[in-house]
Amino acid sequence: VHISKQLLLLYTCSFQHISYLDLMEFSEPGIFNYSTLLLSEERDALYVGAREAIFELSKKNVTVRNKKVQWPVTEISMNMCTLKGKSKERECLNYIRVLQAVDDTRLYVCGTHAFQPQCDYLYFGNFSLHGKPEDGRGKCSFDPSQSFTTVMADGVLYSGTAYNFLGSEPIISRYSPTQSLLRTEYSTSWLNEPSFVFADVIREGENGADGEDDKIYFFFTEVSVEYEFFGKLFIPRVARVCKGDLGGQRTLQKKWTSFLKAKLVCSMPELNFVFNVVHDVFILKGTDRKDTVIYGVFTSQWGNVGLSAVCAYEIKDVEDVFSKGKYMQKATVEQSHTKWVRYNGITPTPRPGACINNQMRLQNINNSLHLPDKTLQFVKDHPLLEDPILPIHNRPRLITKDVNYTQIVVERVQALDKITYDVIFTGTDKGVLHKSVLVEDEVHIVEEIQLLKNGEPIKNLLLSSESLYAGSDVGVVQSPTAFCGRYSSCVDCILARDPYCAWHPTNATCVNIFDTASQTLRQYVKLIIVSFVCLFLVSVLSQKDYKHVAVKLGSSAELPCLVHSNLAQVMWKSNDSVLTEASRFHLIAENGLLIYSVAPEDQGYYECWSVEWSPAAGKNFSRLLAGYTLTLDLPPRPPHQAGHVVTTTLGGHEAATTGAAEGKVETERAALTSALAPPSFTAATVLPPPLPKPTRH
Ligand SMILES: *[C@@H]1O[C@H](CO)[C@@H](O)[C@H](O)[C@H]1NC(C)=O
Ligand SMILES: *[C@@H]1O[C@H](CO)[C@@H](O)[C@H](O)[C@H]1NC(C)=O
Ligand SMILES: *[C@@H]1O[C@H](CO)[C@@H](O)[C@H](O)[C@H]1NC(C)=O
Ligand SMILES: *[C@@H]1O[C@H](CO)[C@@H](O)[C@H](O)[C@H]1NC(C)=O
Repeated sequence: VHISKQLLLLYTCSFQHISYLDLMEFSEPGIFNYSTLLLSEERDALYVGAREAIFELSKKNVTVRNKKVQWPVTEISMNMCTLKGKSKERECLNYIRVLQAVDDTRLYVCGTHAFQPQCDYLYFGNFSLHGKPEDGRGKCSFDPSQSFTTVMADGVLYSGTAYNFLGSEPIISRYSPTQSLLRTEYSTSWLNEPSFVFADVIREGENGADGEDDKIYFFFTEVSVEYEFFGKLFIPRVARVCKGDLGGQRTLQKKWTSFLKAKLVCSMPELNFVFNVVHDVFILKGTDRKDTVIYGVFTSQWGNVGLSAVCAYEIKDVEDVFSKGKYMQKATVEQSHTKWVRYNGITPTPRPGACINNQMRLQNINNSLHLPDKTLQFVKDHPLLEDPILPIHNRPRLITKDVNYTQIVVERVQALDKITYDVIFTGTDKGVLHKSVLVEDEVHIVEEIQLLKNGEPIKNLLLSSESLYAGSDVGVVQSPTAFCGRYSSCVDCILARDPYCAWHPTNATCVNIFDTASQTLRQYVKLIIVSFVCLFLVSVLSQKDYKHVAVKLGSSAELPCLVHSNLAQVMWKSNDSVLTEASRFHLIAENGLLIYSVAPEDQGYYECWSVEWSPAAGKNFSRLLAGYTLTLDLPPRPPHQAGHVVTTTLGGHEAATTGAAEGKVETERAALTSALAPPSFTAATVLPPPLPKPTRH
């Protein structure tokens, strides 16, 4: 496969690398495989399913473990499992793979339970299992290492898994306590060695046309039946079922009557390069159903190419394929050889695989049990649609070199420029997190973080309003969604192109606009989000603007200078030469310079500079924070109060940002003025205390 280098350069972009971050982590000795996560905003909790244990952690701080329950396998199950040749230490254990909230009082949990899957209820109150385990076949996988996905909608569990010990019988099932299991037909035209990655429900919503049903979408990679290939050719798929499906009366009894599947395309058509393995999907649900976008991470079956891609699909394009697409059909050519070709015959009505809608109800078809045999027989034989689902703009949103993405979550945010951005978080098999932002149809990676210290694969990724949670084989990690605080200059802050970050001109910090503190501040200060405005922030102090400080001979002078960034170093200059900490100077690290016993030769200019290394610019970035002209208060009087410190006060006059402090609503013009104002002069004197730095635990 030939890929043009030039094109790769177009897609991949540079970003800053953070080697180490102090993030909140949770793990318990002897417990592994923290791969099932469930967030509960109401209970302020993160539920974690691990090997033989379930935890309730604090959502705000995952290091706080509120509750724990253990669920080991029974001795009988263990013995049966080992007799069948499975390993006692690895396979014949109980890996928790389903954690779903049923109602306000309990969770539904399932585990592999020594290759004999079981499910039970877990009560929130005393955090204990009901103790009456149910058969988990079809709801949870037997094999902990086999692909698996599940979603719960209205108390009903939908799973994509395997139905047998060998893992050779794939199934998409629906389980509810009041109905018998509804499932897929066991046939390679329905599912052919699938690797399930994701499932979710898309609600029809208030204004759903035609009284249509809600739909459950399943995403997986399977072995293609429709292409001639010398080996196994993988194809990424989306399958869909209707929530209200009851199965057929005679044909497709207790089977889906609404199961249809289509091919997901993620490729670079101009290079004839195809990403044919889907690893994870995230459905970004808009307030209106039509704004819903499906994001997926893909690699190529030929892993040695080392490329990962993110493709996005409009829900409308997906729905159109399912409601209007052509069916495929198996045809026998040259006796024994079968081939899948487009079905060109007459399609029975109602349309095979369609959900029950108002039009069908008018024909007295009120549920799937009323569907005619002809329709059912057709869908049984033609579950595959020919029309592919193409990504937005018919190309990947992002292509990244030398990574294998394993997980994806997406958040839609409105930045200060009032533009809505899709922020894409992708996790890799090496514990790295990429944060990318979609700006005018171009995606930029704005941040790369080593989320998991030892570089283990990210097995699960969840997003809440403030944090990101990652599950791995060794623990759970919580990370903020933005690290604005680490951009220490205005230019870095803006050039990071992170829609969460904006520069606070008077406090001289890069702030997260979604922090509660920033929300309040935004009423008073116009945050900077355009990089050219940053330029006005540098070198706006000229020597004639320096604060005049007059002290008595022999007394001490204190020259305040506040540095807001912990990444910056302070440098003091006097008459253009750098000051070192000589006897009579005392550098007060974060507050300023103290000069003892001022002598005539100490008179002159004093400047406080912050020096920061900017990885983005690849050079040191110096910024003048404060300037003073020191003179002696003449004529000298005898120093009758030796050692007394005369503090120079910088009165609140002439501050350009008093308006801001008084809470006036600023106009654009005023904002620019405040941006042009000497930053630290006012910061030290007039403004309210600076923002708290983003917490890093
Ligand atoms: C469980 O975690 C262990 C320890 O990291 C790992 O070796 C193993 O592959 C994991 N098993 C599964 C099924 O994820
Ligand atoms: C990605 O995964 C493939 C298959 O597991 C592996 O061969 C390759 O080395 C991985 N690439 C990177 C950059 O980790
Ligand atoms: C700064 O320069 C002035 C004039 O040249 C000189 O009198 C003064 O001693 C210098 N001050 C310092 C601190 O070097
Ligand atoms: C940048 O500034 C730091 C601190 O003042 C200094 O140690 C470093 O040598 C400087 N680097 C360059 C390339 O100027």
